[in-house]
This record gives sequence, structure tokens and C-alpha cells, in this order.
Amino acid sequence: MARKPHRESTAPPAETTAPRGDSAITPVEQEHEGIYQAALRPQRFGDYIGQREVIDNVKVSVLAAKKGGWALDHFLFAGPPGLGKTTLAHVIANELGADLHVTSGPAIDHKGMLASLLTSLGEHDVLFIDEIHRLNPVVEENLYPAMEDFKFDLFIGDGPHAKAITMTLPRFTLLGATTRMGLLSSPLLDRFGFHWQLRFYELDDMTAIVKRSAQLIEVAVDDNGAAEIARRSRGTPRIANRLLRRVRDFASVEGDGLITRKIAASALDRLSVDHAGLDALDRAYLLTVVERFDGGPAGIDAIAASLSEQRGTLEDVVEPFLLQAGFIARTSRGRVATAAAFRHLGLPVPGRSRSGGSAQGTLF
Ligand code: ADE
Repeated sequence: MARKPHRESTAPPAETTAPRGDSAITPVEQEHEGIYQAALRPQRFGDYIGQREVIDNVKVSVLAAKKGGWALDHFLFAGPPGLGKTTLAHVIANELGADLHVTSGPAIDHKGMLASLLTSLGEHDVLFIDEIHRLNPVVEENLYPAMEDFKFDLFIGDGPHAKAITMTLPRFTLLGATTRMGLLSSPLLDRFGFHWQLRFYELDDMTAIVKRSAQLIEVAVDDNGAAEIARRSRGTPRIANRLLRRVRDFASVEGDGLITRKIAASALDRLSVDHAGLDALDRAYLLTVVERFDGGPAGIDAIAASLSEQRGTLEDVVEPFLLQAGFIARTSRGRVATAAAFRHLGLPVPGRSRSGGSAQGTLF
């Protein structure tokens, strides 16, 4: 197969996309958050820090597809926002030397849009659908034959004179991304060759990511400064990159430009990001469970109503890290604040034993 240089399609409905690695604009000049984050994305497996198990296994499939000359299998990437699902799609397309077409579930709002997207694909192209759990059901059903047999059924005309034609599509790779694996239907899940779960990054990997990004935006950071930003970034590269720029501002205005632990800690305290990486919404969530619901169990809808937040935001963005960090537990009767949450908020840990059916059984 002739290898094309990696290029991003401008086919609708494209999202904000990364500039090419050879762009004349460097990350240091990128002020808009989306473009800044995209400019820091690793382009190759070799630049990708962390998620070793996923990377090593995906790499094998990519190398095999290149060697065998076949289209890479359809893969699904699941995990909380900001862990690199989109980044991985870019890296995979780059490594395959394939064109990447980027879209999202809610952007494909009718069958015609899916048809135009699929018919714009070339042989072995990569189609990335972010938030794939939000596809409309009719679009999703039409995706099945496209994924399975590279076929798409179209109807020309209406009523009794309508004619069905089946189009043959090029062999493409669908990369799906979701923050909510549980919302995907089994027929869709079954059509992916593998499901990869991305996890929060380890501290060492996060520190390495902060150092790499600092180098790209030409900011001086020492080891302790990088570790402090990493520690407060909830194991999430997107958050680390965002905080890095904010800390850079403090280092530039109130210091000599070098990010040290002291500068990073003081800047992040002032930005309301605490030493565990919790922000104002995380703390408000914990306080609600602790004070309003007496430590829980509390239902997610009740917590969302109390905070005037969307339930989905709490489930997708807030809870995964609080669960992983051990500040809350999910039980059959609702969310429960753990002893660590009380301690984190500087509140006395209730003396009684609270069994909510959690993994620990007893949370205190
Ligand atoms: N920037 C954002 N995510 C990254 C990662 N996993 N590795 C290197 N740089 C990154």
C-alpha cells in the first residue's frame, strides 16, 4: 500500500485539530488552550510517556498492520478526560502514515453526515470518534456494517420508489474514545477488536511530562518544581499542561522565570489547587457529601442538585479521581466519603464504623 504522509482531514464534522508537527508556529506562541494542548501532544510512540501497557500492545498491532499491509483493527479507548485518548489516535495515525479524520459522537447527528464522513475516507485511513457513547442510535446502527463489512446502505428517493444501494467503503480503522464505557451498547462494543483502558498517570510519568512540556514552551523548571506541578495534576497530562502555563505566569512576574517547588506551590495554592490536586469543585463535592449528607451514602442526583452541577460532569470529571485517590467510595446505596476525605478537609473523622458495601467494607 502506498503510504501517505499523515494529514488531518478537514472533512466535516472536524473538531479543533492539532497543527502538524512541522508547523511554523511553536507551542511557546500558542495561547489558545486547545491549540496549546495540541501542540504539546507527542507525535510518535517514542515520545509518549506513561500508559506503558497500552502503548506497548497497541504498538505491536500497528507494526503488524504495517508489516502485513492490512488496515489496523478497530480499537476503543476508555478512560477519564485528559488522559490521552485523542493523542493516541494522532500517534497511531502518524505511525501508520495514515490520514486521520477527527470527529465526535454528538457531531454526527444524522445518517447523511455519517455517509459523508465514511465516503470521504481513503484506504487504511483512521477515523477517530470521540465521545462515541453519545452517538445517536440510528447513526450507531449504520456504523455496524461499516465497521464489520466496510459496507454502507443508502436509500435514494422516498416512498415506494426508494432504491437501496449498498456502497463499498475503503478498509479503514475506527478508533473510538469514551469516558463512559458502561454507556456503550454491546453490539458496538463487540465490533471493536480490543478495548483499552487508560489509567491515571504515575507521579514519575507526570513529572516527565511536565519537564517535556516545559522544554517545548521554553520555560525553565527544576526537578522539584516539575514534581510539585505533577503531584497536583490529578494524574492527568492535560491538567499538568494547563497548570504549567499558569505557574509559568507566576514565575515570570513574581520570580526570575525559573519554576521551583516554592513558586509552583505558592502559585497553585493561589489557584485553589491543593496539595492533593483537588480544585474548588472537588472540595465542594466532598464537603457536600460530608456536611450535607453526613458522610453519605448519598445518591449522585442529590449531590448534583446540591452543587447545581450536571450529573455527567460529576461522573466523568470529578468522581474518577476522587475514587482513585481514595476520598470517596461507591456503594450500592450511594457515594460515601472516606476517612481520608474527612482528614483532607481538616475535619474530625467520625468514630463510628460505616459499612456501605464498599470494597473496604468499613471505610473508617
Ligand atoms: N503530553 C500530553 N500527554 C503526554 C504523554 N502521554 N506523553 C508525553 N507528552 C504528553
